[in-house]
Amino acid sequence: MSVFSKEYCEKMRVRIDCGNMLAEAVGKHGITAEEISEMLPRAEGAFAGVEKKHGEMRWRLLPETQLEILPAVEEAAEFVRSKADNFVILGIGGSALGPIAVHRALNHLYHNDLPSEKRKSPRLFVEDNVDPERMAALLDVIDTDRTVFNVITKSGSTSETMAQLLIITRMLIDRYGEEGLRDHLIATTDKQKGNLIGIAKKYNLRTFIIPDGVGGRFSELCPVGLVAAAVGGADVRALLAGAGYMDELCSNADVKRNPGLMLALLEIIAAEKHGANIGVLMPYADSLKFMADWYAQLWAESLGKKLVKDGKVLRFGQTPVKSLGVTDQHSQVQLYTEGPFDKVITFIGVDKYRSEVTIPHSFDDIADVAFLSGHSFNELIKSEQMATEYAVTRSGHMNKTITLPVVNPFTIGELLYFFEIQTAYAGELLNINAFDQPGVEEGKNATYAMLGKHGYDEKRRELDSAKPKKAEYIF
Ligand code: PA5
Repeated sequence: MSVFSKEYCEKMRVRIDCGNMLAEAVGKHGITAEEISEMLPRAEGAFAGVEKKHGEMRWRLLPETQLEILPAVEEAAEFVRSKADNFVILGIGGSALGPIAVHRALNHLYHNDLPSEKRKSPRLFVEDNVDPERMAALLDVIDTDRTVFNVITKSGSTSETMAQLLIITRMLIDRYGEEGLRDHLIATTDKQKGNLIGIAKKYNLRTFIIPDGVGGRFSELCPVGLVAAAVGGADVRALLAGAGYMDELCSNADVKRNPGLMLALLEIIAAEKHGANIGVLMPYADSLKFMADWYAQLWAESLGKKLVKDGKVLRFGQTPVKSLGVTDQHSQVQLYTEGPFDKVITFIGVDKYRSEVTIPHSFDDIADVAFLSGHSFNELIKSEQMATEYAVTRSGHMNKTITLPVVNPFTIGELLYFFEIQTAYAGELLNINAFDQPGVEEGKNATYAMLGKHGYDEKRRELDSAKPKKAEYIF
């Protein structure tokens, strides 16, 4: 049961405006009322499908179930905050992008660069690559005496994460002994699958379990994201409450009263009937910049699928593109207004930014510059967002706007959950499995084979027998 009042929830409600998806707003490249009517039976089926799988889609239960683990999350966060200047996540994909997005949304935009007396929590580093230069660089900037690592892997076997873990544990054991490992390493993984859980038990590590039925990209609201958010000082109860509130808002069988279902429906109509196979997410807030990265994974990995559930070939996929307002007005918006009608643009706006910056009078004698004086950055960014929405709409391109009253843990919880449920509805509308990732697994298996993992000999032979590329095309 949420401790947030009805009034608070209403005040913090994320607003969604999809009027500019319609033909009446953008003209012939927009969606018609008939197209929506035709899709209603599919929308009903999608709603029923998601409801039926409530138990299987355990990420839907996280706003409630994770309340139980908050004391442990807070204990771990307190331990990290008291012990460390650096908190380093070792993880990739769904084990990395959520923590990055939430950290960016809720902390100082130059968090790691703040002097320690101004920084209220450890610096955060999320190591989601195996570029050797990056690992070397990390080790140059952290003092391991004052660092806690959190290794996150649902499968407990992802090569990149396990390779990082091997490096870090070797270093930690050499420096602090096996008994010192617990002071520097937290493990977040499945309760039995993979190798990490065994390692965690062997070294008595603080361990967080990723619940069953919660896949990587749907895992931000379980320990994967909650521990990092709590270390950063975020109110994790509010994060969960915001998600729970959005679950309520998206629980209506009537598509006109269910924003998650409505937006999923519009995206699918846009793709299927209007060839809009690109989805641009353009937040007008630096704090939400990495929300677009998180969303790109969620949408691409969940819906980019070859087969429908009965095995027929579909080859669906809307390519997500990350964009940032206003920065990308000066790079991509030309394409969004005058380019082909192959995309839907989703703007994310914020009513009230957490800082107010007024533009002073410095050059009142230069009329072309002086008009800005007396206004604020707050007005400028809002005006530019509205101007871009206007230009995109006028050019006939489908678009929609999501508005956060303010960026805080509650609204971020809403936003995360909104995108998750929209993705689940889209998967049901398409009759695909939005929760698997055979394409990603294929790459993981090929990596195992190339590096000689036991049991992957067959795959290795397959790779070795691949046809050589034509020499004349190699320069
Ligand atoms: O969404 C997913 O399932 C993937 O992106 C995974 O998060 C990613 O492959 C990392 O997997 P794991 O957490 O098992 O290491």
